[in-house]
Amino acid sequence: MRKVMLELKDVTKIYNEGTAREVVAVENINLKIMEGEMVALMGPSGSGKSTLLNLIGGLTPVTSGEIIVDGKNVTSFSDEMRAALRRDKIGYIFQHFNLLDFLTAAQNVMLPLLIQGETFAVARRRAVMILRELGLGGRIDHYPNELSGGQEQRVAIARSLITRPAILLGDEPTGDLDLESSTDVMRLFRRVNQEENQTLLLVTHSEYIGSLCDRILRIDDGKIVEEVKA
Ligand SMILES: Nc1ncnc2c1ncn2[C@@H]1O[C@H](COP(=O)(O)OP(=O)(O)OP(=O)(O)O)[C@@H](O)[C@H]1O
Ligand SMILES: [Mg+2]
Repeated sequence: MRKVMLELKDVTKIYNEGTAREVVAVENINLKIMEGEMVALMGPSGSGKSTLLNLIGGLTPVTSGEIIVDGKNVTSFSDEMRAALRRDKIGYIFQHFNLLDFLTAAQNVMLPLLIQGETFAVARRRAVMILRELGLGGRIDHYPNELSGGQEQRVAIARSLITRPAILLGDEPTGDLDLESSTDVMRLFRRVNQEENQTLLLVTHSEYIGSLCDRILRIDDGKIVEEVKA
């Protein structure tokens, strides 16, 4: 029996509640994602995709409802518990990559492992391996401002995968990549998904990327409007 890895119960997110700038970004979402499932989240700009990912990743608090990650209700977690959850269980690829400018590609990728207490040598070896796999063998010791947008994005992907998190949340992880690089990244995601039973939730505007996932969730105006098998 596969277990439920992520569950949202009546989750609502209202920004600037009670002010003239109030926005209901996510409204009453109910959702279950099974362990080992690879799910695409699609919808127009402003429909609430990043907000939903931020809620699941614990980066922004819910207005109401509950989020359950691997059987634990994380809604009421303290900041420290939330940080530990992110460190140990959740990989996150941001829409804007959030690489550290003063670290090289390899150092950016190594960082989560070093934070977990891994040795420098092991972290470096794993970082180099995964960067090569993403076609960045020639950019290992380059700094982010020496990389193209698509290369930076792949460094961010490598950083999110290096700790082999149980859950990977990707906010348009292939948004800046051409077809060939996107296909490479999706192949890598699928391999990790199969080898480690990793659960993935990937925001994408691409029907092609969506078709490579197990299921497509469509969101519009903060509500899930369709759930289909890819
Ligand atoms: N920090 C914030 N404060 C106030 N409103 C916000 C904030 N972040 C997002 N919003 C609003 O919430 C709604 C959903 O935004 P969100 O970023 O989740 O959309 P999205 O689906 O990721 O869009 P895109 O495809 O353009 O990235 C938008 O109307 C946006 O204006
Ligand atoms: Mg977004």
